Amino acid sequence: MNELPDLTLTHIGSLVSYNPDRNTFQEWKDCECSIQDGKVMSIGKHLPETKKTLDCQGKLVTPGFVDAHTHPVFLHGRETEFLKRLGGASYEEIAAAGGGIQSSIQGVRKASKEELIAIVLRRMDRFLSLGTTTVEAKSGYGLNVESELKSLEVLDRVNEQHPIDIIPTFLGAHSIPAEYTQRPDDYVNLICDEMLPAVADQGVARFCDVFCERGYFSVDQSRKILAKARTFGLGIRLHADEFMDSRSAELAAELKASSADHLMAISDAGIRALSESGTIATLLPGTTFFLGQTSYAPYQRLAKAGIEIALATDFNPGSSHIQSMPFIIALACIYLKMPVEAALISATWVGAKSLGLENRVGHLMPGAQADLILWDLDSLVQIPYSVGNATIRTVLKSGIPV
Ligand code: NIG
Ligand code: FE
Repeated sequence: MNELPDLTLTHIGSLVSYNPDRNTFQEWKDCECSIQDGKVMSIGKHLPETKKTLDCQGKLVTPGFVDAHTHPVFLHGRETEFLKRLGGASYEEIAAAGGGIQSSIQGVRKASKEELIAIVLRRMDRFLSLGTTTVEAKSGYGLNVESELKSLEVLDRVNEQHPIDIIPTFLGAHSIPAEYTQRPDDYVNLICDEMLPAVADQGVARFCDVFCERGYFSVDQSRKILAKARTFGLGIRLHADEFMDSRSAELAAELKASSADHLMAISDAGIRALSESGTIATLLPGTTFFLGQTSYAPYQRLAKAGIEIALATDFNPGSSHIQSMPFIIALACIYLKMPVEAALISATWVGAKSLGLENRVGHLMPGAQADLILWDLDSLVQIPYSVGNATIRTVLKSGIPV
């Protein structure tokens, strides 16, 4: 193993992070930040000398982003579908006609592990270059035992080979594969009786997720799968109330899921349930935007109910071909009316918390992994204000510029 460099970031104009000790957002102005053994050592002025320095030129420093909801294991993009949507077709219409998730299945089933590893590595390069240093990544385009295990193995191998940290989630319940359309409950049984035991045995996945929505998995089917997943020690996440209120936020609350995601169509009862259960709501405004819709998740109502909000990209080949967390922050500020400080916390600390990683990443307090972004910007508000611009100068992963 290489010896990790001891480093001080000098001339930081503004360092911003959630501060877990004070339970609030904090800004340090005109400071330095020292790094030892890949971890933040201290933040302050005139810090002791270190082997190396990196001059931040008076600019902004933030924690690296924690993108807590992505679907990166697919072979090809779905540009033809995108064109159909530009022509007026809806995501649901395309899915009903055999497009959507179904059209990504053949690619993953046919692809070799090596082919998928090479593609996913490139996608991770892009995440990292956009400031994402930890990413939750789902399987879900294999939808049989072999290809779901293959997708998870691809994530495991990429995690070994790439500096980014990947947290793998099993999403065998992403859609009912074509061969089970006439007998969906048999597919649910396949997930419970064959896939989950094999996934647990393989030992890669940390979470199990289900797409609980009309045309995909019902509340009862989702409950059955997630309850079974829990017996194997997997954490629970849920695609909930994305296009219509399916009472799936209520299910996430009932199961005390780590996260309920999407929630564009959540009801008042769903909001109450999440607030009582303490489940984190992961909002994905990139999906609403990319689908050309206008009904963004009700951030104001969720926040007023005291629910903790994470932000993520939902990167996938269909409904959100977006990898940029800075862009997601801009959408959250502009369309969800999130305060900028709250958006940063949601894109770092709360995402980490939903993955059980908040002691290690998602903030820059001493002892945290030194995953951070040196910006070409002066202040936090310039992240959403500079929407679409290339505003990142350097990303550090465990204290090493990547
Ligand atoms: O989160 N909602 C389910 N899955 C994705 C869409 C995946 C796809 O279209 O391939 C989503 O929006
Ligand atoms: Fe998703």
